[in-house]
Amino acid sequence: MHYVVNKYPEDYFVCLDALTYAGNYNNIKDLEDKSNYKFVKGDITDKEFIDKLFNEEKFDIVINFAAESHVDNSIKNPSIFLTTNIIGTQVLMDASIKYNIKRYHQVSTDEVYGDLPLDRPDLLFTENTPIHTSSPYSSSKAGADLLVGAYYRTFNLPVTISRCSNNYGPYQFPEKLIPVVISKALRNEKIPVYGNGANVRDWIHVIDHNIGVDMIVRNGKVGEVYNLGGHSERSNLEVVKTILKQMGKSEDLIEFVTDRKGHDLRYAIDSTKVEKELGWKLTYTFEDGIKETVNWYLANTDWIDNILSGDYKEAYKN
Ligand SMILES: NC(=O)c1ccc[n+]([C@@H]2O[C@H](COP(=O)([O-])OP(=O)(O)OC[C@H]3O[C@@H](n4cnc5c(N)ncnc54)[C@H](O)[C@@H]3O)[C@@H](O)[C@H]2O)c1
Repeated sequence: MHYVVNKYPEDYFVCLDALTYAGNYNNIKDLEDKSNYKFVKGDITDKEFIDKLFNEEKFDIVINFAAESHVDNSIKNPSIFLTTNIIGTQVLMDASIKYNIKRYHQVSTDEVYGDLPLDRPDLLFTENTPIHTSSPYSSSKAGADLLVGAYYRTFNLPVTISRCSNNYGPYQFPEKLIPVVISKALRNEKIPVYGNGANVRDWIHVIDHNIGVDMIVRNGKVGEVYNLGGHSERSNLEVVKTILKQMGKSEDLIEFVTDRKGHDLRYAIDSTKVEKELGWKLTYTFEDGIKETVNWYLANTDWIDNILSGDYKEAYKN
């Protein structure tokens, strides 16, 4: 939100969020003073509420970031993933048709492509890689992507889709790998690493993801899918060791735990299309990005404490 609200003072933004357990109002509280911004608490699966909001606000662009996004949760309880990620997408697109939205953008994930073998570094996901999912999370995102394609073809809804690799950066909820490692290391707690830690992810700084989405929404071709990747493949173990080293902590904190069910081996993204068509390029190297991110968490231990204590749930006052 900060990226676009600050970059486009002449545009008006409404941030809609249900503030589920993963939503932290503290992250966007400082935007309350901005005259080109408004926050609305609400659920994308609530058809009547969404209809009323679209009617009142007369949006011209809708960007759907809202999702249940944690793979482990999707293995324990798939149902909310199908509701939020698929039905929520349908509700937003139905309202987008009814209120003549000029562009509907779906924020998707590279996980819809499934995984790649560890021993074939030459293979990368392109936009033509078949969808082949592994987890209830990625399946729900893939289901939504297919629905977006269907709304384009059947109803001519002007859509675009972006599929991004693993994000990292400040303000990330401490259930994802990098903030989990930092918050546990700060407390000298054991850091769980799935299996042998060899699974590879392609890491991208959240700002580079946002820049990409913004470019696709403004200049991407309707009906197209664009991959966004970090060109930074690292095994989970490498990521954990890099962070521990920067924090001056011992690798003895690492504890290998039973592997995640259906754990994807490797993600790697080919972003040639968005680079060539729209001129997108990375502004962060993984080395600089991870240094800055670790330093941000170290300087904002109150932010982590506020989440761990559960106090963050009180941040939004209606
Ligand atoms: N984090 C990544 O590495 C990554 C990578 C690629 C794509 N994505 C995609 O980017 C988007 C954002 O990911 P994230 O990591 O910030 O997720 P997150 O789980 O940290 O945050 C999701 C946000 O959506 C809100 N939300 C959940 N259900 C809602 C509902 N029914 N109505 C309205 N709001 C709701 C939550 O309150 C929260 O603020 C998701 O669509 C995800 O699939 C994430």
